Amino acid sequence: MRSQVFHEPRANTGTAGPPGPRVRVGTTGTVPADTRPPCVRRTVFLRSYNITRRPGAVAPAEQRGSTVTDTRTILITGGAGGIGRGIAEAFLAAGDRVVLADRDADAVAAAAVDLGPGASAIALDITDEAAVAAAVEEVATDHGTIDVLVNNAGILSLHGALTELSAADYETIVRVNILGTFTVTQAVARHMTATGTRGAIVNISSIGGRQPTPGMGAYESSKAAVDSLTRWAAIELAGAGIRVNAVAPGPVLTPMLRAGMPEGSPERAAWSSRIPLGRLAEVTDVAPAVVFLAGAEHITGVSLPVDGGQLLA
Ligand SMILES: NC(=O)c1ccc[n+]([C@@H]2O[C@H](COP(=O)([O-])OP(=O)(O)OC[C@H]3O[C@@H](n4cnc5c(N)ncnc54)[C@H](O)[C@@H]3O)[C@@H](O)[C@H]2O)c1
Repeated sequence: MRSQVFHEPRANTGTAGPPGPRVRVGTTGTVPADTRPPCVRRTVFLRSYNITRRPGAVAPAEQRGSTVTDTRTILITGGAGGIGRGIAEAFLAAGDRVVLADRDADAVAAAAVDLGPGASAIALDITDEAAVAAAVEEVATDHGTIDVLVNNAGILSLHGALTELSAADYETIVRVNILGTFTVTQAVARHMTATGTRGAIVNISSIGGRQPTPGMGAYESSKAAVDSLTRWAAIELAGAGIRVNAVAPGPVLTPMLRAGMPEGSPERAAWSSRIPLGRLAEVTDVAPAVVFLAGAEHITGVSLPVDGGQLLA
């Protein structure tokens, strides 16, 4: 499958094409990007990490180093989904530009339009090695470099007991969650090393990779592999100044999970009872951890639980 890039609409035309002046698209029409209100959160983030940026500009390769000096380009796989979209919002609030990649072409294009200035979309199946390589090249051509990769795409609704799950279903999970994560990591790592980009990779793992739940072992073992892949990539890429970490959430109340496990349902109560902090995570609990690890300059090879203490219980 060939990747397809949906750019932000050009100013004044509303049509797809190479990035022009940024516009916000909404029910009230287009708004020039320079009317965007100043973002307090971005200021706090920049101050915390001693990062200075000229909004909208891309740093020349020779200026890229352990300190980010300009607007970063963040590639987020599974960007049309609940957590991916929340991660995109957090990076946009930090002053970055985001490229959402997802196999659901319509949903990812719509998500980029909803997110507004700074967001664009690619239709991409992460299990298609040739399409992944082409997509990385396209994003690099459009934006100069990929500074941060968030490997967020995953299959999480295919489950079954060990004695019942079909090998075909397990293979589907493995292909997306492990092989897909590997394929995108490899392509972006090649891009970063070739361009001298001292970037960051953040994988979205799961606390289930460390704590089993009956019936969910296929998914959980794939996330244990993502944690291992994180350490593998971290040790090999450290010499190039590329950091690789993971965030391992417990259950997260995405729109999908909220619908499947409504407030007051026995399923919601059962999960909450396993979590010392007494509630499931919101997307806004997870996204800041991803932004933090993307900018934490002396952290590599960790998988950070965002689980309300579930591992303690
Ligand atoms: N929601 C949770 O409770 C939870 C908990 C821990 C970890 N996670 C992890 O967070 C990540 C995001 O989960 P979510 O809850 O937002 O799920 P989601 O289903 O809302 O989003 C996943 C996205 O990945 C995309 N995707 C799936 N296969 C793909 C492929 N081959 N190529 C490209 N895109 C593909 C889907 O189209 C979807 O948009 C997953 O890796 C998941 O395992 C989720």
